[in-house]
Formats: sequence, structure tokens, C-alpha cells
Amino acid sequence: MPLRVVVLISGTGTLLQALLDAQAEGRLDAQVVAVGSDRPDIAGLQRAAAAGVPTFVHPLAKGADRAVWDSELADLVGEYRPELVVSAGFMKLFGAAFLDRFGDCTINTHPALLPAFPGMHAVADALAHGVETTGATVFRVDAGIDSGEILAAEPVPVLPGDDVETLHERIKLVERRLLVDTVNQLSRGRS
Ligand code: GAR
Repeated sequence: MPLRVVVLISGTGTLLQALLDAQAEGRLDAQVVAVGSDRPDIAGLQRAAAAGVPTFVHPLAKGADRAVWDSELADLVGEYRPELVVSAGFMKLFGAAFLDRFGDCTINTHPALLPAFPGMHAVADALAHGVETTGATVFRVDAGIDSGEILAAEPVPVLPGDDVETLHERIKLVERRLLVDTVNQLSRGRS
């Protein structure tokens, strides 16, 4: 049986698309069984629907109890019995309830060479610091901010004239490949 993967997204979902493309082309030792988002009306949900993958949306309302939201998210994800959860541009931190259930099998991808430039603005931070090299990292999620065990990482050069958009796009080319490779490695490692 292929590894059951739930992917969580918050935006355009190009990382998700890399997994879906790999799956469609027989390059993924896993099956994306559901895609969840904290935001409705994002392109990533349309990508999932176009691939025939079930979706769910679980927004965090202003002033809502964060722990309740987190626990409900864990329940929604749990309905699909994932063996792996992939945070692919999901812009929310996981809480205790989620990590209790899925902390052992949740990975994330980040547009910098961790532990450098954790957080929401990794590409802008790397540019602001004037580094010549940044990169992409796939890592296990833990209770910290982008602090879990690193599973894969690859440098990406900062080129003269780069802005956040051009640099992020070049990083994402690497992220997509690293993510597919990491899912395959984890899938092969379980048997
Ligand atoms: C990716 O670069 C991912 O690493 C980043 O959001 C982008 C999602 O792109 N995630 C974070 O910065 C999380 N802190 P996508 O929506 O095109 O897949």
C-alpha cells in the first residue's frame, strides 16, 4: 500500500503540485489522500480538486481559541489516516494536540538553509542580511519554529539583482525536488 499523505497548504500550492505531478507520473512512492488548508479560495485547493484529491478548509477565526482550532485540525487530518503529514507552505504553527497525534510523522519545507532564517520571512531576511547563499530545507516538525530534525537541505545562490520574488522562485525549484525526494525516502524507509 502506498504511504498515505495529507498535505496542508495556505497559498498557491506549487509544492503540493510537485507532489501531485510526481504521483501522476509514477515518481512518488506515496499517495496524497487529502489536502487541507486554513484559507478558502486559494489556488492550492483548486490544484487538489483538479487532481481529484479530497480537500478540507479549517480557518482560524479572529479571536478563536487556538488550542481548539489545533485540536479540530488534528481531527480533520486524522479522518484520512495519514502516515505522513506534509506542511507545504502551511502558514500556521501546530499546537500540542496536533503534535501529540502527528508530531512523529509531520514534515515541513522552508525557503532557507535552516537553522538560518527561520520564520515567516526567510527569503526577505536572507536578502536583508546580504548572504551570498541561502537555500531550501525539509525537516521534521517539532514544537519550535522551524527547529526540527533536518532531513534534506540544498544551497541556492543569491544572484545580483535578486528580489524576494526572483530568489524565492529559484529556491522553490529546489524545494519541490527536495520534498518529492524526501517523501520517497521516508516511504522507502518504512518498509
Ligand atoms: C514555500 O517556499 C515554503 O517553503 C514556504 O511557503 C512557500 C509555499 O509555496 N513556507 C514557509 O515559509 C513556511 N514558514 P507554494 O504555496 O507555492 O507551495
